[in-house]
Amino acid sequence: MQWQAIAVVLTSAVLSAGSGAGDDQPALRRAAEKSGILIGTAARPAQLSEAAYAATLAREFNMVEPEDALKWEVVHPERETFDFSQGDEIVDFAARHGMKVRGHTLVWHRQNPKWLTEGKFTSGELAEILEKHIKTVVAHYRGRIFAWDVVNEAFDELRPGSLRSTIWRDQPGIASSDELRAASNQVRSESEARSWQPAYAYIERCFRWAHQADPQALLFYNEAEAEVVNAKSDAIYAMVRDFRERGVPIDGVGFQMHIANLRADVASIAANIRRFTALGVQVHITEMDVALPVDAGGNARPEDLERQADLYRQIASACLAQRGCTAIQTWGFTDKYSWIGSHSKRTQGAALLLDRNYRSKPAYEALRSAFEWERR
Ligand code: G3I
Repeated sequence: MQWQAIAVVLTSAVLSAGSGAGDDQPALRRAAEKSGILIGTAARPAQLSEAAYAATLAREFNMVEPEDALKWEVVHPERETFDFSQGDEIVDFAARHGMKVRGHTLVWHRQNPKWLTEGKFTSGELAEILEKHIKTVVAHYRGRIFAWDVVNEAFDELRPGSLRSTIWRDQPGIASSDELRAASNQVRSESEARSWQPAYAYIERCFRWAHQADPQALLFYNEAEAEVVNAKSDAIYAMVRDFRERGVPIDGVGFQMHIANLRADVASIAANIRRFTALGVQVHITEMDVALPVDAGGNARPEDLERQADLYRQIASACLAQRGCTAIQTWGFTDKYSWIGSHSKRTQGAALLLDRNYRSKPAYEALRSAFEWERR
């Protein structure tokens, strides 16, 4: 047998297997499709050459999001240079396997290249750079990326309800002071205006630029630690309501859902999803993982895996209960590759649906049964 033929046989064997556990249940992807929801994951192009990684990704998910490949430092490494090679790998993979692609992310305060952060640009120059970035990247993927995280994590953890101080907002920021004043006058009440100074005019500009580059793409505001009803999600809610009322092109809100310490107020998450979808925008759960304490070998306790599964199930149910909650995405799918390990000095991990050998965990089964039994 020729090598190519052997590779085809091996790949189709992996693709036709059940969830890594070798069971004969339908894959997560099929259960999600029947349930009318998108099931996605973050992925890294470097791992696509690993047969088990690629086969699992294609079998279990109908949506994919480049984890880092579309961030500024990768896609825009020099002021006049765009590099789409990594993003294209994921987007081409998705096209081959009938998967939708979420784009992440056009505006963030992290993973920006030094030429940008150390460039000492004026507001006007920065606005030009950002407009060009957004329009170039969105236009490159027009028709292939169906939804974008236009702005990511613009609200501040430390000053509840306020915008984070970033290169885009006020260091030096892309909005002129006239625009900031105008935007703050459009805010509903005096107290809201005060708490948001300077207001979110710069976010509005980003959404308008993205919409000009691809009017069909769904445009999302994506945020961390705003899953529950709290000061941050209140501020985002007010911004989205204002955008909707003034016709600013926003289609959805992404709640990241990085869960630590097995703690999540599911009732509050459900109420939050409900109030955002009632504004007429979609909600996507965009980066779910449930980090567990792990031993030196990366293993979690069996009882924690069960509690983790329960959280996945409860949060999937909260999403399935609202028609406007249209996607659940995990931040990676195998514990072999997850940001949690390197970002916690290996004390936390085991956060995803499949273990390091691509075997399904209780969380996988919990999600699949939620999709199978809670159809809408
Ligand atoms: O760029 C270097 C590369 O040159 C080097 O070879 C490699 C070696 O480890 O490191 C590379 O940088 C890493 C980068 O990801 C690209 O892979 C950084 O060390 C690493 O810290 C960075 O982590 C990413 C993190 O965002 C950065 O903030 C994670 O992969 C990614 O999962 C994580 O994702 C974020 C979302 O975008 C937004 N929400 C929170 C989420 C988790 O932090």
